[in-house]
Amino acid sequence: MMNRTSIHGQWSSRLTFILAATGSAVGLGNIWKFPYMVGENGGGAFVLIYLLCVAAIGIPIMIAEIMVGRRGRQNPMDSMRLLAEDDQRNPAWQWVGLIGVIAGVLILSYYSVIAGWALAYVFRAGSGQLAGADADSARALFTDLVSNPEALLAWHTVIMATVVLVTSRGVEGGLEKAAQWLMPALFALLLVMVGYGISAGAFEEAMVFLFQPDFSKIDGAAVLAAMGQAFFSMSLGMGAIMIYGSYLPQDASIPRSATMIAISDTGVALLAGLAIFPVVFLYNLEPGEGPGLIFMTLPIAFGQMTGGTIFATLFFLLLVVAALTSAVSLIEPSVAFLVERLGMTRVAATACSGIVIWFIGLGTVLSFNVAADWTLWGKTFFDLLDFTTANIMLPLGGVAIAIFAAWIVSAQASGDELSQDAEWVHRIWRILCRYVAPVAVLLVFLNLVGVFA
Ligand code: TRP
Repeated sequence: MMNRTSIHGQWSSRLTFILAATGSAVGLGNIWKFPYMVGENGGGAFVLIYLLCVAAIGIPIMIAEIMVGRRGRQNPMDSMRLLAEDDQRNPAWQWVGLIGVIAGVLILSYYSVIAGWALAYVFRAGSGQLAGADADSARALFTDLVSNPEALLAWHTVIMATVVLVTSRGVEGGLEKAAQWLMPALFALLLVMVGYGISAGAFEEAMVFLFQPDFSKIDGAAVLAAMGQAFFSMSLGMGAIMIYGSYLPQDASIPRSATMIAISDTGVALLAGLAIFPVVFLYNLEPGEGPGLIFMTLPIAFGQMTGGTIFATLFFLLLVVAALTSAVSLIEPSVAFLVERLGMTRVAATACSGIVIWFIGLGTVLSFNVAADWTLWGKTFFDLLDFTTANIMLPLGGVAIAIFAAWIVSAQASGDELSQDAEWVHRIWRILCRYVAPVAVLLVFLNLVGVFA
């Protein structure tokens, strides 16, 4: 019973797992969301809290997800049920997995719309529309896109169709192989952009903004946003990483893998910040611009640099690929659920999930134009969805997984999975999951509703 084999096969090595999990983690969250969240929430203090959340909450929960996945070797719900049964605990813990399925569906519904923006920009860049772009034309180009519901709908549909096509053929196929080359290429292009920022942009100002914490700019909502961003960026709290862990070879070290994934993911986010803010400050743009930030700043940089048209086309293309490898991991829990719990075929399950997600995505499409005024607590449909999933559902799901892995699963079982590492690693991981992560998330929630005010 200890070493179950996966019904889905296994990654050929630890490196394949790390690449796949990094493919899930690195996406729009790093390049699109991180910069505008930092900009909206005052810069350095947000970045610092984000980094603390990655280290103290994110990595331990990532270890918990991988561990439960590898020990159960099933979809998240069945893995949690099996592990609960192994230790004679309540199998109802499996329902945490279902919340993850729902979170994935909701996140992908808007993620796909934003990936559609990036796809639109591939064509805009490729046809030379960004050449010589300045602050005004970049803004006009972006506004022109998001104010057009038909265009957004078309791009969203193309993205969802691609996600369904890729996912229905199984994750290990072409996309994973492609991502092994394309992700490093995206990384290299980001370095080019940072180089541009150093040579031509307001780089020092950007460094100060990103790394000099000013806590007067931070409130409870910003702390919650930083924590939510850590969960979102690392793909935690809904079982995506758990699924990938279920294919991990038995002899691979889980804490080392998790740390490497976290470092790559955080590195890409920080690089994106260093690519964007030198341009923001050079052109006196508004850091708190919101979801359009990278689409209003990067075209200016591309528009000014030599070879900009090629770089821009390549960059947005790679961003779409990074978004697709993340999107596959968002839809996978619902596909696994429909296949393994409701007995659908993989193709039917993917199509079914895809249609539901596409439909929910219409709300996001409209929230940037015709329904921009439909707000609740000052938030549009997109804002509400993003807030509820990233800031509420993922932290709650993540803490439930942490509690499950460190309170419900026995120390013997978790020690068994971490036996490649020193005993102190297991001990510290358990303390972080038992006490630190749950208490931290609770405090952030209480702080938000003003208990400490
Ligand atoms: N981490 C991805 C990004 O930063 C998005 C993502 C993929 C995700 N799978 C997830 C977020 C699971 C939360 C949970 O773009």
